[in-house]
Amino acid sequence: MQFNNILVDSQQPIALVTINRPNKLNALNRDTIQELNEAFTLLETDKKVKVIILTGSGDKAFVAGADISEFADFSVEEGGKLAAKGQELLFDFVENLATPVVAAVNGFALGGGLELAMACHFRVASHNARMGLPEVSLGVIPGYGGTQRLPQLIGKGRAMELIMTAGMIDVDRALNYGLVNHVVSQEELIGFCKKLAGKISNNSTVAISHAIKAVNAGFKNTSNGYAAEIEAFGACFGTADFKEGTTAFLEKRKADFPGA
Ligand code: COA
Repeated sequence: MQFNNILVDSQQPIALVTINRPNKLNALNRDTIQELNEAFTLLETDKKVKVIILTGSGDKAFVAGADISEFADFSVEEGGKLAAKGQELLFDFVENLATPVVAAVNGFALGGGLELAMACHFRVASHNARMGLPEVSLGVIPGYGGTQRLPQLIGKGRAMELIMTAGMIDVDRALNYGLVNHVVSQEELIGFCKKLAGKISNNSTVAISHAIKAVNAGFKNTSNGYAAEIEAFGACFGTADFKEGTTAFLEKRKADFPGA
């Protein structure tokens, strides 16, 4: 499989997918999301691939978020569409994939990066990883499922604090919160994930795909939090705070929010 923004190394029964934009800390632009959708679609149909490991290239970042330069001038409607499309193509798609997906979090997992790691079926991190949802520091909210999956994984109060402070947590806290299952050295990360994947691949893939469905079904509420997130995310694009937050990031200065 040949892509421009990701690498796919399929050594059955394990496939390693690497997001490969190290100069942008693997930020998720439109093309990367599309390519990940295509790669996951192909890997899911390959019955010889029993586990997928997802990681970021380089030693600094898993994914440092959605690509801010792509959406800084979006309107309310475009903002809503960005979240809806991303959730459909990648985040919901990965969560509901029949093939297990393990996130190997090798560095910063921020914003869309943490949201992507949380959409995976579980997470292993290296010691240098840092995780957070910094969106409110940009005048926007998490739009790729973060307002839903973070409280599911770590509890409502911890999620509220992390979202409101826009802060980053280290791996000790992430492990303590249950956000990641294991912490290993960066050198060991992929090998450790491959060992786990090896154990998974000895089991029934059919039964595992049913287990994924059953576990996910327990988190589907009657009121759709994901839809509420998309609407609220879009609304942020009509605020002066959003314009200031994203402009300040791109101009490499601290935001001074007008509060409107
Ligand atoms: N979108 C677009 N570009 C991004 C990015 C993102 N989410 N995250 C990092 N980059 C780019 C930087 O603009 C920079 O590009 P440049 O070299 O062309 O100027 C490059 O990646 C390296 O990042 P830099 O900020 O110089 O690295 P750092 O080590 O000083 O800081 C972070 C690392 C992760 C703390 C910082 O990059 C950051 O805060 N990123 C944004 C995180 C975020 O808010 N994500 C949520 C988006 S909704």
